[in-house]
Amino acid sequence: MEKNFKKVYNFNAGPAALPLAALQKAQAEFLDFNGTGMSIMELSHRSKEYEAVHNQAIELLKDLMAIPAGYDVLFLQGGASLQFAMTPMNFLPAGKKAGYAMTGVWSEKAYAEAEKLGEVFVAASAKAGNYCSIPAVEELQYDEAAAYLHITSNNTIFGTQWQNFPETGSVPLIADMSSDILSKPFDVSKFALIYAGAQKNLGPSGVTVVIIRRDFMEQANKQVPTMLRYGTYAKDNSLYNTPPTFSIYMVKLILEWVKAQGGVAAIHKRNQEKAALIYQAIDSSEGFYVGHAEPEARSLMNVTFRLANEGLEKKFLDQAKKEGFVGLPGHRLVGGCRASTYNAVPYESCQALQELMLAFHKENA
Ligand SMILES: Cc1ncc(COP(=O)(O)O)c(C=O)c1O
Repeated sequence: MEKNFKKVYNFNAGPAALPLAALQKAQAEFLDFNGTGMSIMELSHRSKEYEAVHNQAIELLKDLMAIPAGYDVLFLQGGASLQFAMTPMNFLPAGKKAGYAMTGVWSEKAYAEAEKLGEVFVAASAKAGNYCSIPAVEELQYDEAAAYLHITSNNTIFGTQWQNFPETGSVPLIADMSSDILSKPFDVSKFALIYAGAQKNLGPSGVTVVIIRRDFMEQANKQVPTMLRYGTYAKDNSLYNTPPTFSIYMVKLILEWVKAQGGVAAIHKRNQEKAALIYQAIDSSEGFYVGHAEPEARSLMNVTFRLANEGLEKKFLDQAKKEGFVGLPGHRLVGGCRASTYNAVPYESCQALQELMLAFHKENA
């Protein structure tokens, strides 16, 4: 196991592995943050020490993701699941329809919430193939009058990922990026709103990051209750009420770590190398391991695969557990195995998994 190790090879789907350096920094500062004589958790959210952390987290994210001027970065609570409701509450007025690209369970959940609040339609769906693919951007069906188009950029359960994003012109594009935000460079200006629960690539659970274009935000329904309006968070720099200060502090440490790794482009390169190790083990196995996702839809964040039968899968997972691998059982909807290889999962963990897969194949072919 790698030297700067954590105790296990953590492939959890979320909450997930965090960078060791960030955890160690938090540990060192835990009892006395920045000479205040208090833990960061004990500081007022109105104190200058906390506000500095809060603002640094926002600025780091803007810098790392090259977020253009005219966008706000907001910190909310309620997870990505609350965003499923908040987006239509704010942006789906009567008389308009919102389009959803169905690429997995999380898209279905987003659609189901919007359906309670207004008119929705399916712009494309990969359900027929048990979500093993991603629709081509040309397949998306919507018209100029749509309130917005919603996509799930990475499908955590099925292990598929949009490889390129649609150009939606005047139709606002909204994305749930919970499981791949900050994993690769992309053009934020294509999107009116991006949301992500933090607990995969950004930090611990408890905070949801929203990136929203200001002119879009200004079109929101004004009748929505205060805490469910994006404008409330934007107006007071996400300090209208008490934010999840410790989670935001951890996000800041993790963003600093991303920057120290060389930024998002460098992280992306490593993510490609990490996922390739596991996909190679699948592809070279002559069918011993079978990937769930079609090769062109493969996710760099969640690698899903099956073995020939449940007995063999159990044997593989039991052996993996014994050898210190955590989080490898797949979601019940796909079965088999899932390795979540988020930003903070070390290359060495993926190498160890590849070795395990090759050895297990040899012993059980
Ligand atoms: C793509 C995606 N969207 C939404 C969610 C739900 O997030 P939360 O638990 O923050 O509500 C998850 C959780 O795994 C997810 O992977």
